[in-house]
Amino acid sequence: MDRDALLRRLREERWTAGVIGLGYVGLPLAMTASRAGLDVIGFDVAADRVAALTDGRSHVEDVEDDELATALAAGARFTADEADLAAADAIFIAVPSPLGRNRQPDMSYIEAAAATVGRIARAGQLIALESTTYPGTTDEHLVPAVAQAGLTLDVDVFLAFSPERIDPGNVLQTHEIPKIVGGVTDTSGEVAAAAYGRMVERIHRVGSARAAELTKLLENTYRSVNIALVNELAQLAHAFDVDIWEVVDAAATKPFGFQPFYPGPGVGGHCIPLDPQFLAWRARELRAPTRFIDLAEDVNIHMPDYVVARVVEQLNGDGRSVKGAKVLGVGVAYKRNIADDRESPSRDVLARLAGRGADVGVHDPLVDPDRLARDGYTVVGGLDELDGFDLAIVLTDHDAVDYAALADRVPLVFDTRGVYRRLGLGPANVVTL
Ligand SMILES: NC(=O)c1ccc[n+]([C@@H]2O[C@H](COP(=O)([O-])OP(=O)(O)OC[C@H]3O[C@@H](n4cnc5c(N)ncnc54)[C@H](O)[C@@H]3O)[C@@H](O)[C@H]2O)c1
Repeated sequence: MDRDALLRRLREERWTAGVIGLGYVGLPLAMTASRAGLDVIGFDVAADRVAALTDGRSHVEDVEDDELATALAAGARFTADEADLAAADAIFIAVPSPLGRNRQPDMSYIEAAAATVGRIARAGQLIALESTTYPGTTDEHLVPAVAQAGLTLDVDVFLAFSPERIDPGNVLQTHEIPKIVGGVTDTSGEVAAAAYGRMVERIHRVGSARAAELTKLLENTYRSVNIALVNELAQLAHAFDVDIWEVVDAAATKPFGFQPFYPGPGVGGHCIPLDPQFLAWRARELRAPTRFIDLAEDVNIHMPDYVVARVVEQLNGDGRSVKGAKVLGVGVAYKRNIADDRESPSRDVLARLAGRGADVGVHDPLVDPDRLARDGYTVVGGLDELDGFDLAIVLTDHDAVDYAALADRVPLVFDTRGVYRRLGLGPANVVTL
């Protein structure tokens, strides 16, 4: 199948979308493809995940079992056998790209997915990488994989990068978020845009895969830097005896030139703390400076220390010492209303408090309590179990917590998220970051 035939098929026919990696990104993408009326074949190396999905059980909060059932009824299939991907007209790669030891990018998953491509790619396929990574990855890892499969770029196979912008817990669905698409070549970009055009409402094409890779890193570095800025200002505002939340809300009334970011106990999740490091790592190889990235990381990773210092100050003010104090961490997830606690700064704050002799409990209505218990936390299931706690520290402001009741039941509350302010609650025993 030549370029024109593939373009026609992608634009007009019912084609098959293959997805490599069925996690937080890959599964919603598979659902989006199915909803768009495409056939879906999802491949994952985790056989238990494949079995659960085939059984109609979703492990991703934003994908309901009902939606999965609809996709299965429409013919979506899940497999642990990479050979099944030969049926796909377009293959989307959404494998992890974590940081490894020494906070250097761990490229092993992308390398493994590229090796899969090298074994299974066939003429007449588009292959698009979605995993967050450094600029140059698609060129360096997928172009050789295609050659290894004995195929010619832009003749047999087309290659692109398109970053995933999914925001767990956000009401916006994958198809509603504009998609950046950058081909390894212009021809590949055109083919990729045709494929994504069937699944999402708006495509924004950039001139290369590298530009698309860098776009994703700009977006998340922008967030990291601005969060760091407001975290630093929060510390300064406290020294000035000014309420940082009042200041940010006031600045946000400016109709141009200002976007509000709010302080907190640090940054968490698998994007904001990690993605800028891909850029910094590559920049080091190129001997290029990344001062904003380094400074933002420095400020954000030290926020848990600042939070602990403020908790100690609050306990002292009440004549108590942190050693032996019973402290409840409210919210372990890295952000509001989700159950994901990967890289959560809450864990850092609680570990530091425990390290200083506090007796630490946790309450999170969303994160799996059995797992928290396995991780060594004393789990407080409900706010009726708060006898004896000296202080509660709000680390993540889930909606499902009764904050008024919390402030009623513990003598002191330290609110790192400004939730009491947001809800218009003002008990005298609550201190805000
Ligand atoms: N989760 C998010 O909110 C988010 C948002 C934007 C971008 N991203 C990026 O998307 C990528 C995927 O992240 P995620 O959160 O979906 O990860 P995840 O850990 O939830 O899922 C990844 C899946 O890939 C599978 N896998 C690993 N190696 C594989 C291989 N060689 N072949 C097939 N399957 C394999 C795993 O078993 C797992 O099911 C990462 O690069 C991440 O940075 C994530």
